Amino acid sequence: MRREAEHYRVLVETTTAVLWGARPDGSATSGSETWSSYTGQTEVEHSGFGWLDALHPDDRAKTLERWLYSVKHEIPYEAEYRLRRTDGAYANVISRGLPLFDGEHKVREWVGTVQDITALRRSELAAAERLKQLEDAQRMLVASERLAAVGELSAAVAHEIRNPLGAIFNALNMLRREMRHPLLDVMTEESDRLNRIVGDLLDFARPCEPRFSGESITKVIHQALSSVDLSSRGIDVQLQLTNEVDQLPMDGRLVRQLLINLFENAAQAMPPVGGKLQIRTERTDDALSLYVSDNGPGVPPHLRERVFAPFFTTKATGTGLGLAVVKRIAESHGGSVELEPVQVPGAHFRVEIPLSARP
Ligand SMILES: Nc1ncnc2c1ncn2[C@@H]1O[C@H](COP(=O)(O)OP(=O)(O)O)[C@@H](O)[C@H]1O
Ligand SMILES: [Mg+2]
Repeated sequence: MRREAEHYRVLVETTTAVLWGARPDGSATSGSETWSSYTGQTEVEHSGFGWLDALHPDDRAKTLERWLYSVKHEIPYEAEYRLRRTDGAYANVISRGLPLFDGEHKVREWVGTVQDITALRRSELAAAERLKQLEDAQRMLVASERLAAVGELSAAVAHEIRNPLGAIFNALNMLRREMRHPLLDVMTEESDRLNRIVGDLLDFARPCEPRFSGESITKVIHQALSSVDLSSRGIDVQLQLTNEVDQLPMDGRLVRQLLINLFENAAQAMPPVGGKLQIRTERTDDALSLYVSDNGPGVPPHLRERVFAPFFTTKATGTGLGLAVVKRIAESHGGSVELEPVQVPGAHFRVEIPLSARP
């Protein structure tokens, strides 16, 4: 008996776990040295139910409820909670306890341990975080690879279509000189549409590498306006251009393309009569903000994020590439494009182009 007692005394002295004891009614006995040195509570402070004060306030009620449940039913106790250490920081711990019975099967006392599992919880969290990062990275990789493949395919198909389409255009023009037929108009119209789709695909598939040179934004805006058929649709164009800056480091051809795409969308969204297209520029600290607004139905809030995604379209004959190209051109200039959440009806796009080239 003595040898066994000594055996356990040494075990207790060398363990790093906190040891505690409690009476049959659940109140802690005083005198747990390990608890005192871990929490800084005196041996009297932690006795009774004083030990609860060393728990994180949010964990107290739950832990007490658990403990009293075990006490009442005389079953093993296990609880995880945050315990304040002497340095004031909270550790994640697991406390376990067992009832010891006397000869009449009544609980004589409780003994238990508290183990610090902070490192375990922390590495679990870190592992979960790392896993999430990996999953995100993989998802992005898959998406970008698929997009790259789609881009290549689009370019190949568009190229193949371009030549026969050119031949059809020529043939149509010759036919129209010789004869008149309503079906010829249909064919011309549809070929035009095909040509536009092929153009969109090629714009999207072509790598976007701007050649920066100083260009007048006013000139580029006017060029873009004249490339879109606005007057025959009776669209009222309102220009409000700042004269604080005009020359910008940009690729004029690409920015013209960007504007054409925005103007075309605006024109398509407008009511048949009373269409208004507003173009406004404004100098900010280090960029030129370019606003393009129309008085069409606007973009519903739930689609706001999606309109810039390639191939997203709500139009029967759309390619969904216009805004994807806008975004790419803006970003290739170190700028950005956003759909502004404005209360005024219509769609309001804001493009930012930095005043100093930062591709
Ligand atoms: N000015 C606008 N007003 C309302 N909706 C717009 C406007 N511009 C773009 N959108 C929405 O964004 C979608 C994507 O536009 P875009 O990328 O140019 O492709 P597409 O014009 O071929 O549909 C459109 O189908 C439309 O739903
Ligand atoms: Mg479009």
